[in-house]
Order: sequence, then structure tokens, then C-alpha cells
Amino acid sequence: MTSTVLVTGANRGIGLEIAKGFAARGCKVLMGVRDESEGESARNEIPGNDVQVLEIDLTNPGTIKECIVRAEAVYGDIDILVNNAGILIDSSFEELAEADFEKSLQVHVKGPFLLCQLLLPGMLERNYGRIVNISSGWGAFTEGMEGPLAYAVSKAGLNALTKNLSNIVPENRNVKINAMCPGWVHTRMGGKDAPRSPQQGAETALWLGSLEQDGPNGGFFRDKKPIEW
Ligand SMILES: NC(=O)c1ccc[n+]([C@@H]2O[C@H](COP(=O)([O-])OP(=O)(O)OC[C@H]3O[C@@H](n4cnc5c(N)ncnc54)[C@H](OP(=O)(O)O)[C@@H]3O)[C@@H](O)[C@H]2O)c1
Repeated sequence: MTSTVLVTGANRGIGLEIAKGFAARGCKVLMGVRDESEGESARNEIPGNDVQVLEIDLTNPGTIKECIVRAEAVYGDIDILVNNAGILIDSSFEELAEADFEKSLQVHVKGPFLLCQLLLPGMLERNYGRIVNISSGWGAFTEGMEGPLAYAVSKAGLNALTKNLSNIVPENRNVKINAMCPGWVHTRMGGKDAPRSPQQGAETALWLGSLEQDGPNGGFFRDKKPIEW
């Protein structure tokens, strides 16, 4: 079966590598991007014809719905959703603007929630689906919630969404919802001093998106190994 995958924030960084990786595995790939012309130049880096660019801005629920309508018109059912898009607002607690706090929650929690609400029921009905949420150790209680406030709180929210939604998947259903931390990755967000390449950052997402039926559901991973929430 050829799977169809939607990756948000697919025009650069880890998201682009995830899109490339799924295309190399023979999947049909939908690249969710904010700016379609930027998306088209990124798309040109991926060989093959089964790759489409679609606009989606997670701060704008209208584009989320429209993206899924257009995606399903192009490729039919979506089997794999990678909630990769992210923003790092580096403001301190004292200086954090309300709008930036809200935007972090929209990109990391509300947007992924809306996408899951649109796609998970179909996955459960068809008995196949993989949802991969790209989170961060900075959103893990066990790692001290050390990131900047808006980032840490919203990634913790994404972890909570992952765990809560995984609980509604019945025991024997072939649907897996997991979160992961890519480590510190050399991207626009991670900066030039980061030790990991975007390809390394994408590896665990590709693994989680391709899990077999006996794979984990409701876990948090780094380097394909479970980590504590
Ligand atoms: N890099 C790291 O060290 C690191 C560590 C831990 C976790 N992560 C997570 O890994 C994921 C990918 O990060 P990255 O390092 O690849 O960052 P990046 O290079 O900055 O890419 C972020 C992507 O998210 C998109 N995006 C931002 N706001 C959006 C919105 N409102 N709607 C839709 N898309 C939006 C960006 O689109 P534009 O290009 O249009 O801005 C871009 O495609 C993020 O969730 C991040 O939190 C990264």
C-alpha cells in the first residue's frame, strides 16, 4: 500500500527532511507550508512526482480545513500526519507578549489538535494511521521544562495532546500516536552551533511514521528510544 503523508512546516529544516525521507520511501507527500512559492522551491529538492505543496498556517484555522480538503482531493485519505511546524519565541516571562504566547499555543497545540480532529476519525475507521508530533525535551517535565516559557508550555501541551489522544485508540487498532524530540538540530530554529543535521533530526519521525502494527502508541521518543514525558 502506498501511504499518503502530510508534513506541516515542510519547506525547511527538519520538516523538509521528513518530507524527503517519506518520498524516498515511496509515499505520496503533501508538504504543508505557509508560503506556497517557498514551498515550491523546497519541493524542487525532492525527486519524483508524488509530492504536492499545500498552504497551511496553523494560526489560521480556515487554512487548516482548506488544506485537508485540498489534500484529500489530490491524494485521497491521509495515512500519516506529522505535526512538525514550530516557532521558538525566546522572550522571558516578564517580556513575553500575549500575542506570542497565544501564537505558540496555536502552532504547537491548537493547530495539531484541529488536524487530528480532521484526520484521526478516518484513520480509526480505516484501521490505519500514524500521527507523529514533533515536540521537544524543553517541553518535558522530567527534563525540567527548561525552555523559554511560551515554547516549553506549548510543547508540554503537545505532549499532553499526544498522550490524551493515544488513549482513545482502542487496544487492537492499527493507529499509532506518538511524540518525539529531535535533539538539538542545525536549522533556522536550532541555529548554526547545533550538533545534529536535519537528516538526523528527521530519523525518529520517519521511524514513528512507518511503525508496524506492533509498534508503540502513546510514547515520547528520542533517537528511536522511549524517553520520559
Ligand atoms: N531545531 C532544533 O534544535 C529543535 C529541537 C527540538 C524540537 N524542534 C522542533 O522541530 C520542529 C521543526 O523545527 P526546525 O528546527 O526545523 O525549525 P525551522 O527550521 O524554524 O522550521 C519551522 C517550520 O515551521 C513552520 N511554521 C512556523 N510557524 C508556522 C505556522 N504558523 N503555520 C505553519 N507552519 C509554521 C515554518 O514555516 P516558515 O518557513 O514559513 O516560517 C517552518 O517551515 C519544530 O516543531 C521544533 O519545535 C527543533
